Amino acid sequence: VVREGPGLWPSHGTWKGDFLAVDLGGSQFRAHQVKVFADGKQSSQLESKVYPTPKEVTEGNGAELFDYIADCLSDFMETKNLKHKKLPLGFTFSFPCKQTKLEEGVLLAWTKHFKVRGVQDTDVVSSLRRALQKHKDIDVDVLALVNDTVGTMMTCGYDDQRCEVGLIIGTGTNACYMEEMRHISLVEGDEGRMCINTEWGAFGDDGALDDLRTEFDRELDLGSLNPGKQLFEKMISSLYLGELVRLILLKMTKEGLLFNGKVSTSLLTKGKIEMKHVSAMEKDKEGLSNTKEILTDLNLFPSEEDCVAVQHVCTIVSFRSANLCAAALAAILTRLRENKKLQGCRQACERLRKLSACRYAGRLHKAVRRLVPTCDVRFVLSAGGSGRGAALVTAVAHRLAAQRRRLHAALSPFLLPLAVLRDVRDSMRAELEYGLKRETQGKATVKMLPTYVCGTPDGTEKGKFLALDLGGTNFRVLLVKIKSGRRRSVQMYNKIFAIPLEIMQGTGEELFDHIVQCIADFLEYMGIKGARLPLGFTFSFPCRQASIDKGTLVGWTKGFKATDCEGEDVVDMLREAIRRRNFDLDIVAVVNDTVGTMMTCGYEDPNCEIGLIAGTGSNVCYMEDMKNIEIVEGNEGKMCINTEWGAFGDNGCIDHIRTKYDREVDEGSLNPGKQRYEKMTSGMYLGEIVRQILIDLTKQGLLFRGQISESLRKRGIFETKFLSQIESDRLALLQVRRVLRQLGLDSTCDDSIIVKEVCGVVSTRAARLCGAGLAAVLEKKRENRGVERLQITVGVDGTLYKLHPHFSRVLQETVKELAPQCDVTFMLSEDGSGKGAALITAVAKRLHNVGQK
Ligand code: BG6
Ligand code: GLC
Ligand code: GLC
Repeated sequence: VVREGPGLWPSHGTWKGDFLAVDLGGSQFRAHQVKVFADGKQSSQLESKVYPTPKEVTEGNGAELFDYIADCLSDFMETKNLKHKKLPLGFTFSFPCKQTKLEEGVLLAWTKHFKVRGVQDTDVVSSLRRALQKHKDIDVDVLALVNDTVGTMMTCGYDDQRCEVGLIIGTGTNACYMEEMRHISLVEGDEGRMCINTEWGAFGDDGALDDLRTEFDRELDLGSLNPGKQLFEKMISSLYLGELVRLILLKMTKEGLLFNGKVSTSLLTKGKIEMKHVSAMEKDKEGLSNTKEILTDLNLFPSEEDCVAVQHVCTIVSFRSANLCAAALAAILTRLRENKKLQGCRQACERLRKLSACRYAGRLHKAVRRLVPTCDVRFVLSAGGSGRGAALVTAVAHRLAAQRRRLHAALSPFLLPLAVLRDVRDSMRAELEYGLKRETQGKATVKMLPTYVCGTPDGTEKGKFLALDLGGTNFRVLLVKIKSGRRRSVQMYNKIFAIPLEIMQGTGEELFDHIVQCIADFLEYMGIKGARLPLGFTFSFPCRQASIDKGTLVGWTKGFKATDCEGEDVVDMLREAIRRRNFDLDIVAVVNDTVGTMMTCGYEDPNCEIGLIAGTGSNVCYMEDMKNIEIVEGNEGKMCINTEWGAFGDNGCIDHIRTKYDREVDEGSLNPGKQRYEKMTSGMYLGEIVRQILIDLTKQGLLFRGQISESLRKRGIFETKFLSQIESDRLALLQVRRVLRQLGLDSTCDDSIIVKEVCGVVSTRAARLCGAGLAAVLEKKRENRGVERLQITVGVDGTLYKLHPHFSRVLQETVKELAPQCDVTFMLSEDGSGKGAALITAVAKRLHNVGQK
């Protein structure tokens, strides 16, 4: 979990402060206070206190253990006068833990002299936090869980940045080292390095060391707290070496080789010979006085020869330990060298405690040099144990936590609770009513435009039609052949044409001339030049209609802003452009894309009475009872209403949920102040919101190393398809970074995690808001029908709904929550709204012909 990067080793960073650490699992249990100064040369100061760990603690139950740690910490803070302060804490816990975060670790198994009930397989950080919470007198934040090897590496790395191995030979033995991320398949991300805690003490637990293990090793193992486990550790570490010596001496005595064959109780008592005895006896350079004294203290009454022999045993046992340890270390050094593809290798740090320091260290160094002669290893003794390192890791975690808090502050306004969504649903519902009522309709923001489409297709439609589809991601011209009766089917041919930006935002005449040019190209391409076919025009903008073939553009939305169109009849404009080119087409209907989509789906499923678009723009239409549409004469039957809900909120009614990013997007858009709901829910704007957030986070130094690149300044770089890619669950972070690189954004692994998160909150909010709006329409339909439960189909189209990996799911979930009495079938329109436009045209044509007859 400890990653390399700027600030891994704190002397790279510019921070300071007070940090706490507790260090559990070695021979001493300690609490530390570490002061870090950022005074140019960077230094730290360490104060510690040792607390006992009686057997009741190391072999009791979990709650008692963590309470005890919390009590000691509280006592420590009392003595250091720190009780009034809120302090971050690093927890050195020298046991194998599975970590998925720095501040979480599940204990895999106890090792060494610990065997506490009810802790294995649980997260030790939460247990410690729980115990700390009981202490109302202190305020401590556990930020990092660190193995002692890691703490040691960090401690030494603080002074020597080339330190990349941490070695413990103490009560237990273990090593950690910096591994290349690309080799760690358990962790996402391929770049940089992360510290791996090897837990090499368990080496041999699968039998790999059986050839080397002696009868004494086997006996020692059987008498330990964890038989069969940590077999390598049991041949090396100080907790076991004394015991090994005892077992050897016992056997030699029994065989009459020592102490005149007299087996004393101390030789029979487990744990009677400790590491300190072994070291002292071995150290006995000047004669045998130490050895004699120690053995006499143990009631063994040694002769001179006995002393020599015992010294010999001690030396052999610790020699073997040093050699085995050297072999394991050599394996790590070789790996590091291979990772770097270097001939020689750099340095390691080790920590030697409680062993016959000089001699043991000397043997170890010598053996390592012999095993990996090409590695130039430097051993640095960790001063102050791993506590300082743990505090340093904590300091980095502390800085990261501060960054997380700022990230959270930026993103939390996007997380709309259900209660807020209910309010949104209710205000949407109120706006729908305003738009339908004669008195309020003039001022209504949700315009509720009548479409003069009065029924869904009945299957009797037939003929050949042209359709235009303008206003979504693509501009299309289509030829649609509809057959009725037994051979009922729809065949479509279509071609996509580009509309250049200068045409979208040029003059109206240019725009319509371009459209007609495309129609002419299409007819030629299809080989039907000169055919006078009836045409349905899908025009995905708000139009006030007085009949099916008349539509006055209320105002441009999305990316269009051609001059001289607003307030004009778009059918007239199209007809004039056709006349300018001297050909003839019969424009029969102008249709909003929502209506076209509803009709397309309605052709398959007559229960489809709602059309939803979640694409470049956002909008809904639905079949409303004529009696509720006050601005259209007549009370019989139904008519489709194009709600134009994108304008919801233009009167300020959702301003309380708009963020500063929404306001920035609005201000930079073609229609400031307009379509506020659409700007929070549709594809054209989501990428822009994301871009605004990224700019802000970069300014705060949380992203892209604080550098706002040229590409990030470009409006519109995040199209819906990029958002969809970034949020796809199937993409690994590396691929996210590739997408970002395509957009000209050079990201680190951490950057890409943040970008993904930003995209996630923005698209989730969009889907939830859209769901809240749809719930309002559904509830209205349910009341219209006067039923307890509504069964209805919603026809849906749009790139956001279709391409985004989560949008449709979140939308549907929200609808379930906010309109629980409606059973909704979401039907994807596969053929776009052009087919629907052709169907409407067919119906209109039939009615027209009937009328003429
Ligand atoms: C298409 C419709 O399938 O979806 C268009 O035919 C509509 O009329 C579009 O505008 C909406 O989606 P987008 O994402 O392309 O705007
Ligand atoms: C044991 C622990 C390990 C620790 C080592 C040294 O092997 O399992 O986590 O690093 O002892 O204390
Ligand atoms: C915009 C248009 C609307 C259209 C929607 C989806 O909101 O104003 O008419 O239905 O985009 O394309």
